[in-house]
Amino acid sequence: MSDITITGLTKRFDDVTAVDDIDLEVENGEFLVLVGPSGCGKSTTLRMIAGLEDITSGDLHIGDRRVNDLEPKERSIAMVFQNYALYPHMTGAENMKFGMKSVSDYTSAEIDERVREAAEILDIEELLGRRPSELSGGERQRVAIGRAIVREPDVFLLDEPLSNLDAKLRVQMRAELLQLHRELDATTLYVTHDQTEAMTLGDRVAVLNDGEIEQVDPPQLLYDYPATRFVAEFIGSPAMNILPVELVSDDTDVSVRHEQFELPLPNADSFTAQPKSAFFGIRPEDISLARNVPGDVPTFEAEVTVTEPLGESLLIHCQVGDDEIHVKAAARSSIDPGDRLELGVDEERLHVFDGTGEAIYHSSPRGHASSDAVPTQPEP
Ligand SMILES: Nc1ncnc2c1ncn2[C@@H]1O[C@H](COP(=O)(O)OP(=O)(O)O)[C@@H](O)[C@H]1O
Ligand SMILES: [Mg+2]
Repeated sequence: MSDITITGLTKRFDDVTAVDDIDLEVENGEFLVLVGPSGCGKSTTLRMIAGLEDITSGDLHIGDRRVNDLEPKERSIAMVFQNYALYPHMTGAENMKFGMKSVSDYTSAEIDERVREAAEILDIEELLGRRPSELSGGERQRVAIGRAIVREPDVFLLDEPLSNLDAKLRVQMRAELLQLHRELDATTLYVTHDQTEAMTLGDRVAVLNDGEIEQVDPPQLLYDYPATRFVAEFIGSPAMNILPVELVSDDTDVSVRHEQFELPLPNADSFTAQPKSAFFGIRPEDISLARNVPGDVPTFEAEVTVTEPLGESLLIHCQVGDDEIHVKAAARSSIDPGDRLELGVDEERLHVFDGTGEAIYHSSPRGHASSDAVPTQPEP
């Protein structure tokens, strides 16, 4: 096992800067997820680490070794691809051991034994004799993961390995990957565009936007304390509501003033800057119908445009002046388009971003957890 240390990593293709000066450290044994929208540079980053793409500038260390100029097979990594990349004319077992001779000192008998062990871990013993065309998508993905395990790499690199599976299988494979990670305890860098996958799998999650890392944090901290508006809107579904506001302050208090309402902000001393115009952020689940909230909470009015029953909740689309917001209400709430609602906010879950997108305020100040704390994954 080894950690991965990335400093100033950059990749330029002609006029495109696909990866722009990123720093990232994946700790020994950590499961780190790199998440971001399509085209933001995730695969390019992974391919540079694997040695499949030249590095334009920056340094890449795996353990103590600088590996920038090492061949892929000298880096002690194994990569799993979205499209599985299995050889169609080979059986599962042949795919798993292909090329092993060149990356290890194992004898043929030892390699066979390792294939058997990996197949047992993944519960695919009965698939070893079949070719990829005789396997389902999920089975192919298991064989591809088996091929990575057989290599006993220091580092696993996975590029959207579940994207081609149907939703139910994806949830099942997610749980299996977590279990596998607990068994193998290997340093893992996992790439996905899916924020749910990122939140559920990562010890920590790095959010990549347009070739740059916006934030690296454990999932809950990313959700509760987004460092930028981009992270706030990318992590969480439905996305955080963002409304243009003015910041109004007197001696001790600060409020956000929208064209339709004004809300006081608690803990105003936690502001890091106070520009006049800013963006107010609140998640759909942190807004509730004022009639359901005991006590005296600050409220504002909104008009319902559309309601979407999600089964476990009711998603309400509302208009507040010129802006649209989403509110998550209890399932079976009797609310219809055209209704005017009085809405209350959870005062511990308010966020403000400046015009450049930086977070300048969270109503619950972020505790002692620092961005480089690596929590241990709780046992299920
Ligand atoms: N071989 C290449 N030649 C030119 N541009 C590329 C190449 N590979 C990727 N890119 C560009 O680099 C950017 C990042 O691509 P990629 O790393 O594949 O994104 P992601 O995996 O996050 O979807 C995109 O704009 C893509 O078009
Ligand atoms: Mg990709």
